[in-house]
Amino acid sequence: MNMYDIIEKKKHGQSLTYDEIGYFIKGYTDGTIPDYQASALMMAIYFKGMDYRETVDLTLHMRDSGDVVDLSGIEGIKVDKHSTGGVGDKTSLVLSPMLASCGLKVAKMSGRALGHTGGTIDKLEAIKGFRVELSPEEFMNIVNNTGIAIIAQSGEIAPADKKLYALRDVTATVDNLSLIASSIMSKKLAGGSDIICLDVKTGSGAFMQTVEDSKALAKAMVDVGNGAGKKVSAIISDMDQPLGYAVGNSTELHEVVNSLKGNGPEDLMEVVYTLGSCILTDSGIAGNDVEARKMMEETISSGKALEKFCEFISAQGGDTQFVNDLSLLPLGEITKDIIAPSDGYISRIDCKQIGMASLASGAGRTVKEDPIDFSAGIIFNKKVGSSVKKGDVIAKIYSSDENKALAALARAEEAIEYSLEEPVRNPIIYGIVR
Ligand code: URA
Repeated sequence: MNMYDIIEKKKHGQSLTYDEIGYFIKGYTDGTIPDYQASALMMAIYFKGMDYRETVDLTLHMRDSGDVVDLSGIEGIKVDKHSTGGVGDKTSLVLSPMLASCGLKVAKMSGRALGHTGGTIDKLEAIKGFRVELSPEEFMNIVNNTGIAIIAQSGEIAPADKKLYALRDVTATVDNLSLIASSIMSKKLAGGSDIICLDVKTGSGAFMQTVEDSKALAKAMVDVGNGAGKKVSAIISDMDQPLGYAVGNSTELHEVVNSLKGNGPEDLMEVVYTLGSCILTDSGIAGNDVEARKMMEETISSGKALEKFCEFISAQGGDTQFVNDLSLLPLGEITKDIIAPSDGYISRIDCKQIGMASLASGAGRTVKEDPIDFSAGIIFNKKVGSSVKKGDVIAKIYSSDENKALAALARAEEAIEYSLEEPVRNPIIYGIVR
């Protein structure tokens, strides 16, 4: 077997075998296949495509190129959710304690903020004492005892994808459905959970900007997950404006606590309940969506989800006092208001630009090594469709640095558009793939 023949075969639109895909992934990961041959193959795949079987095979080989987490030491049904990335997306922190209160086990690896999107790990690091790195034994024990642990990705998860994604990024071969689906699913499948629900975002703050593309990606990932032997579902949810009212790290934790106390924003809770319904029904804990929703609502009204959240934070070394007194999780002392210029409605909030404004305030990072100002971010008072009066405060920027606050203000002001007529609101959920 050699790379020349594999490229030639794909160039003519033929299907690659399981072994040929394995040969490429192994050789590219260990450096024996050079970038120029891998680039040629990616471009051939881009133009000629891969069928379903090839996509599953590529996913499995990329999953097996590194560590595959063994969760067999955890009793019960292990579940996970994964978002394709967004702004103000704190669903994992609200949903996980709700699912754990229903008896499921959430053993989760999460990411950090990069570019305009936030990361669950940064949000958790805003909590005093919280440890995002645990030994495998500690991780298993915490999940067994409390039902949840969330850690930063450790070890080598799908190194083949890491290398290939970086190559695709500079060779204009990212936007191929099979390549995207196998890239995302190889990492998710390496996480070891039994049941996975994917939250595919759509709109101006999302990786996929149109509903059609997002639905196609959702379907491709569900198919690949099922082909790899896992129960996978997906929802397509709106990311055409930030989710909820808070964007940042401490800002978002405030919203998480309020949501677990029963005061969650409608859009955030709808995404949480929809993801949770897929997971609770797929795991057989609930017979149908209505039952699942009731169970989840009960975890909030009884205070069980909040209690579970505190148990999880304490188990990972975090100080939970902020749950009763949010001032212990301070927001930046320098604030700037975004003011409505006239009477009317908010017609559009460019979600990516709001993510960039949050980054500019200090809440995010442009490169992996950038430090984060946990107290920085944005809290909205109004969202798309809200009526406004001239002078109303639409949103407040928080930062600990005057220049950063001003940069964030300029960006956020540009991201918000107004109209005289009430705009049509987007749906919160565009579809479910099961
Ligand atoms: N995110 C990934 O992890 N991989 C892709 O190919 C695209 C988005």
